[in-house]
Amino acid sequence: MQIGTTLTRFIIEEERQHPEATGEFTGLLTDLSIAAKIIARDVNKAGLAEVMGITGRTNVHGEEVQKLDEFANALIIRTTDHTGRLAGMASEEMDDIYPIPEKHPRGNYILVFDPVDGSSNIDVNVSIGTIFSIYRKKSSDSVTHADFLCRGREQVCAGYIIYGSSTMLVYTTGSGSHGFTLDPSLGEFLLSHEHIQIPERGQYYSANEGNYLKWDAPVRRFVDQLKEGSQPYSARYIGSLVADFHRNLLKGGIFLYPGDSKSPSGKLRLLYEAAPLAFVVEQAGGAASNGTQPIMDLPATELHQRTPLFIGSRDDVATLEQFVRGKRA
Ligand code: AHG
Ligand code: MN
Ligand code: MN
Repeated sequence: MQIGTTLTRFIIEEERQHPEATGEFTGLLTDLSIAAKIIARDVNKAGLAEVMGITGRTNVHGEEVQKLDEFANALIIRTTDHTGRLAGMASEEMDDIYPIPEKHPRGNYILVFDPVDGSSNIDVNVSIGTIFSIYRKKSSDSVTHADFLCRGREQVCAGYIIYGSSTMLVYTTGSGSHGFTLDPSLGEFLLSHEHIQIPERGQYYSANEGNYLKWDAPVRRFVDQLKEGSQPYSARYIGSLVADFHRNLLKGGIFLYPGDSKSPSGKLRLLYEAAPLAFVVEQAGGAASNGTQPIMDLPATELHQRTPLFIGSRDDVATLEQFVRGKRA
């Protein structure tokens, strides 16, 4: 009788291939999947679950905090802070790091996350997501800022949940990127996309062309040439990074959030948006760049550091970098 491979079973089987793994991983990913199921339940009845609308507060980025941002942030803390797997957390919705309180046992991992990505789409029933990234704690005693300021290459796990027509969890631990679809009747994430491989060159490009005139000339030229030729790319942009990224991951394409004259570092954050998705896409055979170097190699100097982001099919990102380096005009 075939019930499919649950997320828990897949993680355990994957961990068996890594003798050094301690099982803390299985627990941490399982904890996150529980938070994902609860967020999915409330997102799927947003209008009825009192999670629509704004809180009236703004976060460290000066952005309006949606009720669901706050709910999801608190939920992820609550489902992961007491299990003894984490030493601390950081998130888009918290100004500073969150060390695990004294009353709880502490573990060796650091969790960084964007509790709800695409918040502006919550009230209009468009797919949103959660993005997470896990590091091993480097400091020997209590957790410090330095434990969070890691390069993407140091991630031990990264992934996202997309709350769309179905709820999917996609993650990597460095042995490929794998997708699991929530079966609400079972309450289980079941393996649906093993070893995702992104097409080497895409058919879609995703960018907010409302910013076109503020982009640097090479980026404008790159996007212009996507529209030329016998088979122009199709534009697909819905304003949720996770949803735009997920489509391009499965179908091929490039997502661009460039820096511009107003914001040279762009809008998206390195630690809990760009780096985790860069890990996933590299494991799927794609690429992620800030225009000149891999996202995974960028040093993090502050928690909420922003970076320009070009991510998706390997050849499309390589072509973008040629334009930025002046090798293509
Ligand atoms: P968040 O909701 O976590 O702040 O992220 C929103 C991000 C990202 O999801 C999306 O790609 C981008 O903002 C859209 O920005 P614009 O509205 O400027 O295009
Ligand atoms: Mn986000
Ligand atoms: Mn967010």
